[in-house]
Amino acid sequence: MQDSHVRIFDTTLRDGEQAPGCTMSLEEKLEIARQLQRLGVDIIESGFPAASPGDWAAVHQIAKEVGTADGPVICALARANRDDIDKAWTAIQPAVKKRIHTFLSSSDIHIEYQFKSTREKMLERAREMVRYARSLCDDIEFSPMDASRSDSAFLHQMLTAVVAEGATTLNIPDTVGFTTPDEYAEMIRGILANVPGIENCIISTHCHDDLGMAVANSLAGVRAGARQVECTINGIGERAGNASLEEVVMALHTRNAYYGVSTNVRTTELTRSSRLLSSFIGIPVPPNKAIVGGNAFAHESGIHQDGVLKNRMTYEIMSAETVGLEGNMLVLGKHSGRHAFRMKLVSLGYEPENEDEFQKVFERFKELCDRKKKIDDRDIEALITGEHQRVEEVYKLEHVQVITGTSLTPVATVRLVDQQGHQHLAAAHGTGPVDAIYKAIDSVVKRPVELLEFSINSVTEGIDAVAEVSVRIRDTIAAQQAAAHPGIDLFNGYGVHTDTMVAAAEAYMGALNKLLQDRGRRINDEKSAYADGYDQAKTGYAVDSFANTSK
Ligand code: KIV
Ligand code: ZN
Repeated sequence: MQDSHVRIFDTTLRDGEQAPGCTMSLEEKLEIARQLQRLGVDIIESGFPAASPGDWAAVHQIAKEVGTADGPVICALARANRDDIDKAWTAIQPAVKKRIHTFLSSSDIHIEYQFKSTREKMLERAREMVRYARSLCDDIEFSPMDASRSDSAFLHQMLTAVVAEGATTLNIPDTVGFTTPDEYAEMIRGILANVPGIENCIISTHCHDDLGMAVANSLAGVRAGARQVECTINGIGERAGNASLEEVVMALHTRNAYYGVSTNVRTTELTRSSRLLSSFIGIPVPPNKAIVGGNAFAHESGIHQDGVLKNRMTYEIMSAETVGLEGNMLVLGKHSGRHAFRMKLVSLGYEPENEDEFQKVFERFKELCDRKKKIDDRDIEALITGEHQRVEEVYKLEHVQVITGTSLTPVATVRLVDQQGHQHLAAAHGTGPVDAIYKAIDSVVKRPVELLEFSINSVTEGIDAVAEVSVRIRDTIAAQQAAAHPGIDLFNGYGVHTDTMVAAAEAYMGALNKLLQDRGRRINDEKSAYADGYDQAKTGYAVDSFANTSK
């Protein structure tokens, strides 16, 4: 009988993080991994350890903290070479359940132009590397990259070879997002029919969204017999992204009678997972995005509202509560005490590391109570996100004031305090209030940056709603090294406040502080990776490879 459990393989921290501007710090990756565990994914692809010592260190730390006996399988990606496989294997060591995922192209276009090789040589390399990986680890996933544009006979030959060498999961990537649902399903059926030993393996989908068909293709794959889906929160990933986890999961959940399969995902954690990621990478979720978009459960038209008021089923195929959007909305306010607030944090899955950290969030909550009457889960989640985003401040924003209005040139004054306790006062005018504030801050920090993105969102409805501001900046100096180390030049910041201008200032300061901290952090990540067993000699990374990013 067909297995009715579809494994959810989350690759937000690997394929997702590979997307431009989605780079996360080690702490942020850990926080996402903890949330993925709460969400109930079966496998976390935690990174690509051979990419850099920092990536290795992040995978190692996730394996240590999240790879517990009752936690998910911790997987690491490796190209089909011994060095990558060794790095993946050493990085995931602390996890109880470990998986190595290795890949090699199977399409002629990749073999000829990228690898300048032959089918025979690629086949031999796949065979050899899966054999090597299997000598280390019992759980081996193999991906024939660009499978959807590969000759099917050769694809079957390569898969047959790796199954014989002990691969346990065969992942079938539509690397360039080229295929259609019918074709993808046909490919999975072809593999099931033509690869001896496939009955002992799990077939997995891995679909990119270049033509907007990643989710449809993944679901077609499941219909055809795939029992693992690779996907990312909010669908982030290379180019147009990967199949979106929340869409795949809710399609399987809502249309259970049609698909006849289930997942282990706690759907009520979907909204929180989406928001957490969005705040870390500074990329807001589009309002019309299925499942987690701000409008996904909003009924605007009179006819729809009328129907929903009479019976929700008239226009709702799933409820906001199921995806964690509403439900446990215990409203807190001015009179709520420390105990009620602590209980609320626990129910939201946030455990402050110590009393100091609790006290800081509590104080921010009390400040918010002075400005906003009713505080619900969404406000508190925004406060928590703000706290997660806080890095050790190189400059602390102590004061911001802006004068603006019709027929006035906006003028901002800021007061920043550095780590030695020195105060820096500055004023600037700008084309708008945000421009004025950012120019005043720039005149103190003196680090050339480019503002790439700026977005404001209202956390809840209501005139006294909290504003959340996300910004992304590019460090002009690090941008010169970005070709060699993609992503090192981009920094995100997040601010939350009832005053939009204060939130904007906080977001900018957050991004700048991350940037200023970054040089030291990278060197520390590298040092700890070496201390924990990363082998410098094999990659040639030097501990101080980022040390020349001078101010
Ligand atoms: O899209 C792709 O082919 C990949 C592989 C590494 C699995 O991400
Ligand atoms: Zn991919």
